[in-house]
Parts: sequence; structure tokens; C-alpha cells
Amino acid sequence: MKKTKITGVGYYVPDNIVTNKDLEKYMDTSDDWIVERTGINERRWVNEKIGTSDLAVKASEKAIEMAGLTPKDIELIIFATLTSDYNFPGSAVQVQDKMGMDTIGAFDIKVACSAFIYGLSIADQFIKTGQVNNVLLIGAEIQSTGIDVSTRGRDMAVLFGDGAGAVVLQATDGDSAILSTHMHSQGKFAQYLWAELPTSLENPCMSHEMLDAGRQFPQMNGREVFKNAVVRFPEVIMEALNANNLKVDDVDLFIPHQANLRITQFVAKRLGIGMDRMYSNIERYGNTTGASIPIALSEAYDNGKINDGDILILAAFGSGFTWASAAIRW
Ligand code: UT7
Repeated sequence: MKKTKITGVGYYVPDNIVTNKDLEKYMDTSDDWIVERTGINERRWVNEKIGTSDLAVKASEKAIEMAGLTPKDIELIIFATLTSDYNFPGSAVQVQDKMGMDTIGAFDIKVACSAFIYGLSIADQFIKTGQVNNVLLIGAEIQSTGIDVSTRGRDMAVLFGDGAGAVVLQATDGDSAILSTHMHSQGKFAQYLWAELPTSLENPCMSHEMLDAGRQFPQMNGREVFKNAVVRFPEVIMEALNANNLKVDDVDLFIPHQANLRITQFVAKRLGIGMDRMYSNIERYGNTTGASIPIALSEAYDNGKINDGDILILAAFGSGFTWASAAIRW
């Protein structure tokens, strides 16, 4: 049976840098509070009319070029995002159109911070069954236009950033491949990290009153998210290691979803490893939700932190709750 290899990576973040000091102008917060609780110094927020699919195209162009392919070679697009250009259809079809691809299958998955790893798992199944050979998997978000940039929304607003990452996945007979993926969910905690509107539970699904009450903005119980994240990350990482008879020391680089530097440090401690083997860029980009792992993966590759034959573990936790991991031999 064929296996699935990542043959191209690429990322793109908007030029506009928003520092913690900048946020002090819009809400009652401080650089000290944000750095101490999250490790974030700055994030990128779009400052022009541009869609999530536009960020995605820029990341995808790099990934497709690195793979030595053209957009016409792509047979399936999977787009991990919470913030598609429109409520529907999803942004995968925008990418299909903007990149001049054939009328291939293209769909979005809405699994928040775990969506990129869920997407890897889906792509892996499509390739292993022989249905397609070349998949474009994107994680991209524009969070900045959907959050409450005021003191009311400060717990969320300081965390999130915009950006895009993409990978090309191809069928291979070699040893460099996705070794395993594992996915989990626990919907009873859905309202610990969610955005309610538009909601099918109400008629109409959105009203002026609902908007005035701020029900369109993401809401979070930060402490519960934190508490669950620091348990689920190590658990799902160990699941990936055990499934492949690997030990923590066999792993060259862990690439976790960039939720909060404190969570990442906690996980590193639990695993008994130094931060040198735990990739982190949240200081510069904040939490970019579905985009955070592909951005980190691409950046780590560009910085020479990933070499042929390396063992990588990707892991994510977020809204749903959902959590997931992937083991990869590069
Ligand atoms: O991808 C998954 C996404 N989410 C996460 O990973 C988030 C996980 N959770 C966290 O990272 C942390 O819970 C936060 C960083 C969000 C918050 O840290 P915390 O230590 O749990 O703070 P808290 O929510 O308990 O709030 C402590 C205080 C509160 O004030 P009072 O009630 O003590 O007077 C908040 O109102 O900090 C206040 N606060 C802020 N102060 C300044 C909340 N947000 C801010 C802010 N600036 N941005």
C-alpha cells in the first residue's frame, strides 16, 4: 500500500504587526499581562480587504512549488479553517478558483485548532486507498476581523493572529511518510471555547439584538481550556509514540499547536524535554488556530530545523474539545 509524504510546505503571514503595546490602545490590558500569561509579544492582523483564501493561496503557491508541481497537478484540496471568506461555501473552492485548478474535490473542515491534523489524517486515507496522489492541505485563518477588540473581549483578543500554512501531500513507496494520526473529541465541552452565531437554534439565526449582546464573538473559559490542554497534549503525543514503538528521545522535533507558550512549556516539562525540541513561534504570531501547525512546520523547515529522516510529532488541542496527533518520518 502507498504511504503519504509531505513533499512541499509554505506559509504566509500578513505584513501588519500588532504588538501588545498596540492593543493597550483598544482595551484595558498590558504588555506584561500578555507576555506573562501567554508568551505572546506580537501577532499579524490583516489591515486591508483580503480573505482567508488569499492568505491560503500565497502559502499554497510556495508549497506546490517546493513539491515541484503546478496547481493543475493537485487532485484534492482540504482547507482547515474556522474563518472562511464566507459563511458558506467554504474557502477550499475559492482556492480552487484563484489557483486555476481543475474541477477537483475541495472542502473545508471546521475543527478549530486540531483541524490541520484532522486534515492530515483525511488526506492520508485518500492517498493510502489510492483515490488520489496529490493533495493540497491548507490551514489558514483571519481571526482579527471576528474578535471583540475591546476590554469585553480582551481574554480572547490578545491571543489570536492571522496567517496561513499549506502542505502538499503525495503518494510514496519510501520510508519518509506519515506514520500515524490519532483524533479525539469531547463535545460536552463545546461551550468552553466557541462562537455561537449564526445559530440554527434560533429563528432568525442572527438578529440585531444578538449582535448587540456580542454573541457573534468567540467566547472562552480560559482556565478550563488550559487545564484540559495540559492533559490532552501529553496524552495524544504518547499515543502517537506508542503506536509507532517510539520513545520521547527518538523524536527530533515536536511541533505543537501554538495555543499559549505556557501550555507548550508545561507539555515539554511533562515529556521531560527541553524547549529546544519543542517548536514555538507564538511569540511572533499569537495563536493562528488552524494555521498554527502548518506555519510552524514550514518555518521550522525553512530554518533548517527539519532534516531528512527526522521523526516529527505534531499535536493539537482546541475547541470542541478536539485533540489530535501525527507522527511523521521526514
Ligand atoms: O487554541 C486553544 C485556545 N485557547 C487557549 O489555549 C487558552 C488557554 N487558556 C489560557 O491561556 C489562559 O486561561 C489565559 C491566558 C486565556 C488567561 O489566563 P488566566 O491566568 O487563566 O487568567 P484568567 O482568565 O483567570 O483571568 C485573570 C484576570 C481576570 O481579572 P480578575 O477577575 O482577576 O480581576 C481577567 O479579567 O485577568 C483578567 N484578564 C486580563 N487582564 C489584562 C483577562 N484577559 C486579560 C487581558 N489583559 N487581556
